[in-house]
Amino acid sequence: MKAWSMPSSTQCDIGAAHQPVRAVVPGSFDPITRGHLDLIRRTASIFDEVIVGVGRNTTKNYLFDPDERLALARSALAGVSGVRVEPIPALLIDFCVAQGARVIVKGVRFGSDFDYELQMSQLNNALSGIETLLLPGGREYGTVSSTMLREIAQGGGDISPFVTPEVNAAVLARMAAPR
Ligand code: PNS
Repeated sequence: MKAWSMPSSTQCDIGAAHQPVRAVVPGSFDPITRGHLDLIRRTASIFDEVIVGVGRNTTKNYLFDPDERLALARSALAGVSGVRVEPIPALLIDFCVAQGARVIVKGVRFGSDFDYELQMSQLNNALSGIETLLLPGGREYGTVSSTMLREIAQGGGDISPFVTPEVNAAVLARMAAPR
């Protein structure tokens, strides 16, 4: 009798090298908040590597220039394993390809975020094939926004519960000496 053997097409690929999955978490990070940090940590718990991409949204006016936003994000994420922070030089999809990333992760706080992210994810997918995963905001800092924190700081309010001490100091310094 012929011994049964599993068809090669259905054999498990035991021992095959695991391809690390790299995810990009892009944003303006003006400045990075505890809401962003929560999203990035949760993303890092799912994927092998996370690249935080500091980019530019041409419709926004920024408090911090690109190098400052990058440095603040790096200081806030120092010591978080599996995460590095890089600038996005131009288009996000080109950055993802250059970094070997297969997925973009964005946080969604409310319905208006979803409308914006849906449009952006479909365009990015049509242009590059890269998929976007949307993670809901976390319980503690899920609705915090950089825009509102800047507004509070401009009015003399205390944003320290929502950012790291380094970011708080940078915002206070910028408020004391605006450019
Ligand atoms: O924090 P934000 O404002 O939501 O971040 C938006 C950002 C920087 C991720 C987005 O504007 C971006 O990807 N900019 C890079 C240029 C680009 O690819 N634009 C096309 C988006 S469809």
